[in-house]
Amino acid sequence: MRLQAIRSALVAWYESARRDLPWRRTRDPYAIWISEIMLQQTRVAAVIPYYEKFLRAFPNAAALARAPEERVLAMWAGLGYYSRARNLQKAARQIVEAGEFPRDYDSIRALSGVGDYTAAAISSIAFHLPRAAIDGNVRRVLARLAGSNEPGDLARRLLDRADPGRWNQAMMELGATVCLPRAPKCGECPIARFCAANSRNAQHEFPAKRARPDPLRLTQTLLLIRRGEKILLTPSPRVEGFWDLPEKIPGARIGANLGQFRHTILHRHYRFTLRLAEAKKIPPKLRWFDIGELAAIPLSTTAKKALRLAP
Ligand code: ADE
Repeated sequence: MRLQAIRSALVAWYESARRDLPWRRTRDPYAIWISEIMLQQTRVAAVIPYYEKFLRAFPNAAALARAPEERVLAMWAGLGYYSRARNLQKAARQIVEAGEFPRDYDSIRALSGVGDYTAAAISSIAFHLPRAAIDGNVRRVLARLAGSNEPGDLARRLLDRADPGRWNQAMMELGATVCLPRAPKCGECPIARFCAANSRNAQHEFPAKRARPDPLRLTQTLLLIRRGEKILLTPSPRVEGFWDLPEKIPGARIGANLGQFRHTILHRHYRFTLRLAEAKKIPPKLRWFDIGELAAIPLSTTAKKALRLAP
């Protein structure tokens, strides 16, 4: 492998092709950490508005640490994988306890919700530490480049020690915009001439597929129960910490069908039907909320989708 030639070609490309993303304009480790947590399993375009809103609400670790969990979840509502939001707040308390944002890899890795990839990304981007960050996109780039499904060693040898943060983001950028899973744009790729998969036209063999759980198809009914300006909600059975519309209430009178919508959580594919209903006896875990109050509580995405169907 011509490591230095690959580095120069990719870095030159990145300097000209890089997207102008909000977390690439800051050197604040707190903001970089928030961006990397949001970017776990989530696309850049979906993250941008959340990132900006979240940093306005919680501009530093102290603000995040002391916020009510309900507010943090409300800010996260719609991004999915809510354990990230809960861990973020735990980690903010760790940071406040320590007195400053940790500056070495092991202390960053010890924050709640930070795994190997995220620790490497934060260490390299915020502190220029020589750590290779390998997420799904980067793994694919490396696997194709090496023509191997064990690319960890190449990742470490290839890492550009002159600017590890820029290097990691260049690899991510190539994976996100050029070295695409199904239809890689090898004609636009700055390192195609070094790529083992490209030379054998074997891009689709790398990376090897990981077995995924079969999708599960589920149907559910949600109940829209209102009294004047109030609506009845239950703690979500799907996502801890969120409020949702109730599903079953003993003795409830079920009325008009208000429509259907779909929602996916991990491999669960739900089809929800919304029914108007009335209930006399309300089970103790349920609560009435003012309609005007809903913007301020963690409301599940299923409840939001359902309320769009409400007359
Ligand atoms: N995905 C994960 N981290 C990223 C970053 N810093 N920039 C763009 N995409 C990313």
